[in-house]
Amino acid sequence: MGLRIVMLGAPGAGKGTQAVRMAQEMGIPHISTGDIFRKNLREGTPLGTQVQGYLNSGALVPDQLTCDIVADRLQQADCANGYILDGFPRSLPQAEMLTRFLAGRGEKIEAAVNIDVPDEEIVGRLSARRSDPDTGAVYNLKFNPPPPEIADKLIQREDDKPETVQARLKTYHETTEPIIAYYGEQGVLLNVPGSNAGPDEIYRRILDVLPA
Ligand code: AP5
Ligand code: MG
Repeated sequence: MGLRIVMLGAPGAGKGTQAVRMAQEMGIPHISTGDIFRKNLREGTPLGTQVQGYLNSGALVPDQLTCDIVADRLQQADCANGYILDGFPRSLPQAEMLTRFLAGRGEKIEAAVNIDVPDEEIVGRLSARRSDPDTGAVYNLKFNPPPPEIADKLIQREDDKPETVQARLKTYHETTEPIIAYYGEQGVLLNVPGSNAGPDEIYRRILDVLPA
């Protein structure tokens, strides 16, 4: 039986980097609301049109819309044995809705992994982030270089411009950070220092604190 895990941390803390690897090795799905929104944006769906303004300005998509999408996703068969939520919840109302939704099914979040990285490090990381549009793999020109043969096809995220990164950090501190205490009160919070070490070391730190 896998775990039901949420990844917490500022934009650029490494939630996606770690969640992809954890999901692969644990054999459970990685569910990123940011990835879902960006896929809809790229494909020009009605949802994509609805969320574009929020993503490009670094604001949060409204809670109810986001929660409905996640609730739908969690009811799919591949979520029966656990999953890793990345970028959700990111407000107290979202966290409370998730708790209520799971309680209705006799379930709960078993681990909230909080990757802690200071703001100073975030801006440098995000300006050097690149991703593979085909596989979704995330790289960093400075800290996690991509294989040279795919360098030409890599893309940069629209919201990684410095002014948008500042807006995302502000949104994070005002609206998302309080849910760290929420999961603390539920007794499932796992704090992981996320700076001054590469992705492999951070991954080891996460495995060290996750329940068996
Ligand atoms: P989302 O896609 O979730 O973005 P985010 O939270 O801003 O987080 P990031 O994806 O930027 O960072 P990450 O922590 O995943 O870091 P990564 O692993 O890539 O959300 C985007 C937008 O969608 C939001 O602004 C909002 O509008 C909307 N949205 C999404 N969910 C929502 C919700 N629930 N409610 C409302 N709105 C929502 O790593 C970053 C970089 O650092 C990479 O280049 C990586 O290679 C590098 N790196 C990783 N680890 C290390 C390390 N240890 N050392 C050095 N570099 C590292
Ligand atoms: Mg991410």
